This record gives sequence, structure tokens and C-alpha cells, in this order.
Amino acid sequence: MQTDQKKALYEEAQKELISITEGETNVPALMATVSCVLSQKFDYYFWTGFYNVDPEKENELVVGPYQGTLGCLRIPFGRGVCGAAASTRETQVVADVHAFPGHIACDSRTNSEIVVPVINADGQLIAVLDVDSVEHNSFDQTDRIALETLMQRIFAQ
Ligand code: SME
Repeated sequence: MQTDQKKALYEEAQKELISITEGETNVPALMATVSCVLSQKFDYYFWTGFYNVDPEKENELVVGPYQGTLGCLRIPFGRGVCGAAASTRETQVVADVHAFPGHIACDSRTNSEIVVPVINADGQLIAVLDVDSVEHNSFDQTDRIALETLMQRIFAQ
């Protein structure tokens, strides 16, 4: 997809999501709404959803609201792309998941992905947003900046 078109869709998604979620503080409701709007808006989003930091287990993610095919239930910090984003608190943009050490193949059709840490207003990591694509190299700096901004606007204010 052309960068201009991507940017325009992200602007639309952000406007819609800010308006729909205004005044809502329930985190599962916010996550369900974000997954739905993003997956409907972008044709190249194949799996769109959240892995939450499990408050009952140290350094483990557990699947949260998502849209797409069956996702793995649990991912330890440091494992795969989601685990790397959780342990470093840095966005991971992966052009070819098969070349990523420890990648967890929940669905073998996934070829590229982006994972963005979700940090709340207190600066705590609460989840990661995971978006997978069946194409190689679907995600770039435009996706990274737009999704980081969106996570900040929805979950840290
Ligand atoms: N791709 C992720 C695992 C989660 S699923 O693909 C839904 C990873 O390697 O972290």
C-alpha cells in the first residue's frame, strides 16, 4: 500500500477510535474496539489483537481481545516477536517472521508482523498490540508511528 494511503487510513482510524472510546476506561472494551476498527480498516491486517501482561504470572503474556484466526494463549516475555516487544518495551517491526529467532507460528500463513507495547498512564506495560500480515514486509515506519501514537492516545490518557 502507498504511504499516503496508509497515512490517510491511520488518520481515519485514529479519529474514529478517539470518538468511539471517549470517556471509556474499561480496558477490555477499549482493546476489543481497537482490534475491530483496525482489522476492518486495513486489508493487510490478517490477525489484529492484544496480548495482556498476566498479573498472576511473572513475565508472561496471555491472549486478550483479537480479530482473526485462533491465537496462541500464552507467550513468555522474551519469546517470539510479542515476547521481545514485552521484554524490551520497544516496537518490533518484522519483515519476515520466519527469520525471527523464536518466532511463534500461531498461524503458518503469517509472514510479517508489527508488535507495539501498550503502556498505561502510570508508565506500566499492560499489554502488546500484535498485528500480523500474510504478505512479507507489510509494516514500516508509517505503521509504527501511527500505532504507537494510537496506543498512547487510547491507553495512556
Ligand atoms: N506472532 C506472534 C505470536 C502471536 S500470533 O501470531 C497471534 C509472535 O511471534 O510473537
